[in-house]
Amino acid sequence: MRVLGIETSCDETGVALYEAGVGIRAERLASQISLHAAYGGVVPELASRDHIAKLLPMVETVLEDAQIELGGLDAIAYTAGPGLIGALMVGGSLASSLAYALKVPAIAVHHLEGHILACMLEEPAPEFPFLALMVSGGHSQLIEVLGLGRYRIVGETLDDAAGEAFDKGARLLGLGYPGGAAIDRLAREGDADAFDFPVARVPGLDFSFSGVKTALLYAVRDLPADELEARRADLAASYQRAIVRALVERAHEAAAQLDAGQIAIVGGVAANSELRAALPEARPAPLELCTDNAAMIASAARYLDDAADPLRLDAYAVA
Ligand code: KG4
Ligand code: ZN
Repeated sequence: MRVLGIETSCDETGVALYEAGVGIRAERLASQISLHAAYGGVVPELASRDHIAKLLPMVETVLEDAQIELGGLDAIAYTAGPGLIGALMVGGSLASSLAYALKVPAIAVHHLEGHILACMLEEPAPEFPFLALMVSGGHSQLIEVLGLGRYRIVGETLDDAAGEAFDKGARLLGLGYPGGAAIDRLAREGDADAFDFPVARVPGLDFSFSGVKTALLYAVRDLPADELEARRADLAASYQRAIVRALVERAHEAAAQLDAGQIAIVGGVAANSELRAALPEARPAPLELCTDNAAMIASAARYLDDAADPLRLDAYAVA
């Protein structure tokens, strides 16, 4: 089975070709970071337009890279949501049109399921049931993965997602957007014990990151301007430490409560080096598959049998 996967949920245009028994045969990813940087966040309309401009040429390139003709495809998988509705519709429309023309199934993939199943591309794959720490720009959840398509959310953020906390923190530190990777890099030069940033301990297995963000805001505000530059790495390291600590504590609590054998870390924040190091026993998704990509969408299709009628376009902004 050869599946062409298309990801356009936010600001990455992704196209990948997955072949059963072989794995990812070709993959392309185009980032829109420079397009949105001046605005400090993703501008939905600009994102949709850029996906339109990039997607078709990228499909051609991926097919060329894999040396496969359109007629050699057995299914087209696309991210149906959650995400920016206009951006999703660009990928969904192309996927459905291709599927209709080629008389193959169009497979609507839930973006978060793509993130979770990305960890199954690592050998050996985690065994069910396992606990997924799903941490991205839009979501922070602890999910009990009972089997394929069988997910139970056992904890989630009450306010900001972990990636959002990284991005907002980076903005306060003048590191630009998106900021997770920038904080990760800068934190390596700083002292994580320099500032005591608390993380709210909310009941149950939920998270809250709005308090730590406010603590950083005050710390930055209270530092004399000439000291801020010298303390930036310490601030980044302490801020990252607080977020990672909260994620790790809750993941351990959830794993103990659920008697989960393994913890998988997935989503963009799973790329964070401190988080990966702080959960050495966990199965992190392959580094290049943590942030948004089409390989996780194309390969997730191997697990899904709910192929949609190509004349139906699935797109939803919220899960
Ligand atoms: O999964 P993803 O690519 O997109 C969403 O589905 O949201 O996640 C993007 C998020 C952003 O908030 C970004 O700052 C964060 O992942 N991120 C990181 C790192 N790399 C990306 N956060 C912390 N450390 C990183 N190395
Ligand atoms: Zn994502």
